[in-house]
Amino acid sequence: MDRYAVIGHPISHSKSPYIHTLFARQTQQPLVYEAIDLSEEHFEQELTDLFANGLKGCNVTIPFKERAFKFASQLTERAQRAGAVNTLKLTDDGILLGDNTDGAGLLSDLHNRVGELKGLKIALLGAGGAARGVLAPLLTEQPALVVIANRTASKAIQLAEDFSDLGVIRGCALDELAGVFDLIINATSASLSGHTIAIDEKLIHPDMACYDMMYSAGRTVFNQWAREHGARQVIDGLGMLVAQAAESFALWRGIRPGTRQVMNEIRRNFAL
Ligand code: ATR
Repeated sequence: MDRYAVIGHPISHSKSPYIHTLFARQTQQPLVYEAIDLSEEHFEQELTDLFANGLKGCNVTIPFKERAFKFASQLTERAQRAGAVNTLKLTDDGILLGDNTDGAGLLSDLHNRVGELKGLKIALLGAGGAARGVLAPLLTEQPALVVIANRTASKAIQLAEDFSDLGVIRGCALDELAGVFDLIINATSASLSGHTIAIDEKLIHPDMACYDMMYSAGRTVFNQWAREHGARQVIDGLGMLVAQAAESFALWRGIRPGTRQVMNEIRRNFAL
């Protein structure tokens, strides 16, 4: 059996082993997938040992995505743009390939839930690693406009500049965000700490979609806030999680598992 894993710290709550085990069963691929907690002090050495001992590939999560980016011996273009790696694959030639499937996962879920993004006005909240990771794939869809809004405005402005070659994109502070958007994506970590995001409630209207890249039992803090202010469609990040996992699986095994049934099972099993 080929071995795969998700590496992070902490990692015990990861749903990736559950998701990939369902994918393996569905596609009849002979593999095992486990969660491995790596230490912040010895991340590179421990990862080297894992691959030396037969690991074929892994997903990478908090806090190691930037270190995995530096550790990979070759990078896909989308990983290079993201500045972070969430998927490593040991190729048959012994090359450690770094990829980033987060943006593709977001797009796949948005296509399912919202439809085409071409011509839409999109606000992206946050300017950290999560926002950077999805910007290039979002811009390839040719939205009319992407505005990045962040608590620290300078980071949003810088990020917009970094991606300005790919489309119409601006950066601003959260409290400066104004206009009529078709889609607001929350890529901040505010929901994690239970905080609402300081944007104008007038941004929310019934005909838009609100997407939180986080998920939680019950509605996320952002999605709850958006609902209370009149958003009809609020979507959490569980679909993105399953879709990015399917992209990683496809990179490793050359076969793309279906996500719908896995999504349903995961919602039922974890009451999400
Ligand atoms: P990640 O890898 O999840 O993106 P990160 O790189 O630490 O993590 O970025 C966290 C993002 O969430 C940042 O955009 C941060 O805003 P700042 O750049 O101003 O720090 C944003 N964030 C975190 N807590 C927030 C809060 N309570 N309200 C608004 N934005 C918040």
